[in-house]
Amino acid sequence: MCGIVGYIGDKSPVEVIMTGLHRLEYRGYDSAGVAVVNKDGLGCIKSLGKLKILDAKLEESPLLGQTGIGHTRWATHGVPSEVNSHPHFNVAKTIAVVHNGIIENYYELREQLKATGIEFRSQTDTEVIAHLVDKYYQGDLFAAVKRALKDCEGAYAIGVICKDQPDVLVAARHGSPLIVGLGENEGYIGSDVPAIMKYTRKVMYIENGHVCEITRQGVKVEDVNGNPVQMEVKNIEWDDAAAEKEGYPHFMLKEIHQQAAVLRNTLGGRVHEGSDEVQLTDMNISKDELKACKKIFVVACGTAWHAGMVGKFLIEKFAKVSVELDLASEFRYRDPVIPENSIMIPVSQSGETADTLEAIRIAKSRGAQVAAIVNAVGSSVARESHGVVYQQAGPEIGVASTKAYTSQCMAFALFAIWLGETRGVLSKVEAKELITHLRQIPDKVDEILNNQDKIKELANRPEYRDAVGCFFLGRNVNFPSALEGALKLKEISYIHAEGYAAGEMKHGPIALVTETFPVICIAVKGETYDKMVSNIQEIAARKGLIISVATEGDKSIQAHSKDVIYIPECFEAFSPILVAVPLQLLAYYIAANLGCDVDQPRNLAKSVTVE
Ligand code: AGP
Repeated sequence: MCGIVGYIGDKSPVEVIMTGLHRLEYRGYDSAGVAVVNKDGLGCIKSLGKLKILDAKLEESPLLGQTGIGHTRWATHGVPSEVNSHPHFNVAKTIAVVHNGIIENYYELREQLKATGIEFRSQTDTEVIAHLVDKYYQGDLFAAVKRALKDCEGAYAIGVICKDQPDVLVAARHGSPLIVGLGENEGYIGSDVPAIMKYTRKVMYIENGHVCEITRQGVKVEDVNGNPVQMEVKNIEWDDAAAEKEGYPHFMLKEIHQQAAVLRNTLGGRVHEGSDEVQLTDMNISKDELKACKKIFVVACGTAWHAGMVGKFLIEKFAKVSVELDLASEFRYRDPVIPENSIMIPVSQSGETADTLEAIRIAKSRGAQVAAIVNAVGSSVARESHGVVYQQAGPEIGVASTKAYTSQCMAFALFAIWLGETRGVLSKVEAKELITHLRQIPDKVDEILNNQDKIKELANRPEYRDAVGCFFLGRNVNFPSALEGALKLKEISYIHAEGYAAGEMKHGPIALVTETFPVICIAVKGETYDKMVSNIQEIAARKGLIISVATEGDKSIQAHSKDVIYIPECFEAFSPILVAVPLQLLAYYIAANLGCDVDQPRNLAKSVTVE
């Protein structure tokens, strides 16, 4: 989730680019850089850390030119560092590239280019693009970029400039967002509207597979095979605040809608096309350590703890390793017994949660290998762990965690398959089958996001919207889904919601059920479906207000439910990722209908850095 800006025209490219990058800082900010074409060739300044550090460097050594590109980074491949920050160059430094996305076959391309004698400067996938453009460059940058992208698989939004063609800015998109802005004798590119809205409101939304040649005279758009594409120019009506939310009323709703793309990012670069093998290169756990491991400790807080519960289920099911799950705030005070060869997996979106950090320190002090699942690149959790799986969800602004949760569940699924294969518990055929199921998840999330009418209608029904309390019930791998659904609703709508294991109702909680008490029951097809239906019938017998979350095509569930929210058929073990989405939307629309401050609920903070 990086930020890209480019400019060609008579303004100062650095001024336009830095203004735009600051408007994109919410997309990622572990490092940044700018490159411009000037009479001496390509000038470039980069910096580690926040944009203000780059500002200071540019203040000290102004970068003059006429065409430029800039980038603020949310690292995916290669740690945050100046050498890994964008722009990246070909060997002769005559071509510069900025990139948002993941080139999934970068490793193969990198090896091929290295075999021709090219020495790479960085650890990034992006640098591969610069060398490929150089390989195909014969005086026409637009043609070279089109040809280079034919070799690339994965997601990209790129900006490219060339010393020998100062009057040309080339951009392209596949999977990652990109817009082109039109001015008088000038052109802009940006990751999204806020980047260029100060200068122009006339934009083209670039589609997947399109490549653009931007000059002072205008924009030419073709597909990678050189077929011309007619683009519509739209006029942006948003105000600044709306622009950062890309038109959504709240960051939370925007982030809910990012989940299909985020899940493709989480998968991207870890399950290579064709190989169908999981690669978690930054975990820093050797095969011997993985094979010797007898116990895994999963430690987290809040929503991350719910993801950890899903992770426990997946690791024990597919890797047959015992998992102990703890709330970080409890783990640190219970004097845990940590056997030899243990692994701890802390889970954290912000990577700054105090209790989770303390749990890491305790585990390390008792000899555990710590491999974190974390979203914020370069965060304390990432730095204090031995290894890391970055969620690649991009910055999550809404206090209520949504895309971070589903990407954590996806990361656990990848880890469980990787661990199962490494330990010889999963055959290659079984692993391939699981990966096939995982690959289908993002499209199924999109299906849910494209069919929200029922959820919006339920969220405005007084019996649900004005409820004083409610239950979320689930079983098995969807017990954490019930806990997460309840947390989502309570933390943004302030309705008292509790998540329970459905089998637990008879042991007390069912005393609360009345005809004005909503019970959201997760009853997707799976091993415990029949048991779940029995629990629903027990609730119905007490006239509870039942909303069931069920699998498309399941008509029988309607007999026991007042309302049903359907989700696409899904491999049960991975269904929490899908189940989360309608429950996030239900919570969001109820809270919005109640006029709550959805992005910044009362009493809450995005990162709990205190105990
Ligand atoms: C989730 O909606 C909450 N905002 C909260 O429970 C959060 O998940 C918890 O504080 C953990 O945060 P972390 O993932 O940044 O460590």
